[in-house]
Amino acid sequence: MEFRYLGKTGLSVSELCLGTMTLGRETSEDDSYNILDRYIAEGGNFIDTADVYSRGGSEEIVGNWFKNQKRNDFVLATKVRFPMGEGPNDLGLSRKHIIKGIKESLRRLKTDYIDLYQVHAWDPRTPLEETLSTLNDLVREGLVRYIGASNFKGWQLQKAIDMSREKGWEQFSCLQPQYNLLCRATEYELIDVCVNEGLGVIPWSPLRGGWLTGKFTRDMQGPPENTRIGVAKEKGYSETWDMYNNEFTWNLIDELKSVAEEAGKTPAQAAINWLLQQSGVTAPIIGARTIEQLEANLGAAGWSLSTAQVDRLNKASALFVSYPYDQSAIDQRNKGRE
Ligand SMILES: NC(=O)c1ccc[n+]([C@@H]2O[C@H](COP(=O)([O-])OP(=O)(O)OC[C@H]3O[C@@H](n4cnc5c(N)ncnc54)[C@H](OP(=O)(O)O)[C@@H]3O)[C@@H](O)[C@H]2O)c1
Repeated sequence: MEFRYLGKTGLSVSELCLGTMTLGRETSEDDSYNILDRYIAEGGNFIDTADVYSRGGSEEIVGNWFKNQKRNDFVLATKVRFPMGEGPNDLGLSRKHIIKGIKESLRRLKTDYIDLYQVHAWDPRTPLEETLSTLNDLVREGLVRYIGASNFKGWQLQKAIDMSREKGWEQFSCLQPQYNLLCRATEYELIDVCVNEGLGVIPWSPLRGGWLTGKFTRDMQGPPENTRIGVAKEKGYSETWDMYNNEFTWNLIDELKSVAEEAGKTPAQAAINWLLQQSGVTAPIIGARTIEQLEANLGAAGWSLSTAQVDRLNKASALFVSYPYDQSAIDQRNKGRE
């Protein structure tokens, strides 16, 4: 597996990050350890978790596994923001919750520092100064090496970067947005901010929870129950059958299957490889419920879709884009200023 720098930092991360949201949720503890072992055997060094995954269960599993590893060989990312209890201060990006959050994450992960500490989403209630100054303190205290954001809008990310710069605080080095062939709105503002400001980009749900594997077809009455999509509605996950069961999705999947066949790869590998070639992307975060899925998804790196194949996927996944993002209007405005 190849390594890429995380944005403009000096930190090298493998081009496929391992997501651990399934660990302790739909994946047993033993299978989770096998997934982690297999990922590092392939040369991966970048592991993403969050306090909220299985209410600490994912961090516990990664921490148990870490006991037998060399800590310095890994780039460990986790997150804070979503509820970890029922109390009014058990969520959010207040100083109180972040400081409690980092201490508990360090305990569960059995380490004394986090490489990339990410705020899991914007907190509309806490003043941004409070959040960013607290994150700055964590870096200065040596508990955190780099900070990142997830699920921000473009203006929120730019505002945070500008504020940290103005105050001389540590700035976000990385964004973790949803980004995949079924979610390209990420390109409107977020990728521009990241490229312009030198942030790394680590897309979550590169297969949109299974949709982009090609295992669901338009003639199905619904998803098999033993899949994430099959339980999404009941569990409150966002990638439901109802949300994506439409002609746009099925036409995209047809084209993805055709491109993958031409490339001699699986649809999942082609979908992840497409992401690897997008502007600004550092490392897609691959997810897997089983070791077989991980094996398959690791095959997304080490080769490249041709330019023509990328173009076909760009066209099939293109959203209707209106002002001020439509390319013809951008070209018109930029005339003579290229
Ligand atoms: N920041 C955030 O808000 C956020 C949100 C979500 C995820 N994440 C991060 O991103 C990581 C990846 O997200 P994700 O799990 O949604 O990724 P994903 O790759 O879009 O979906 C993974 C799911 O797709 C199915 N799948 C994966 N590979 C497959 C294959 N080769 N063949 C058939 N089915 C396959 C499996 O579900 P089934 O087998 O059950 O169908 C698997 O659990 C997470 O672990 C987490 O670290 C972050």
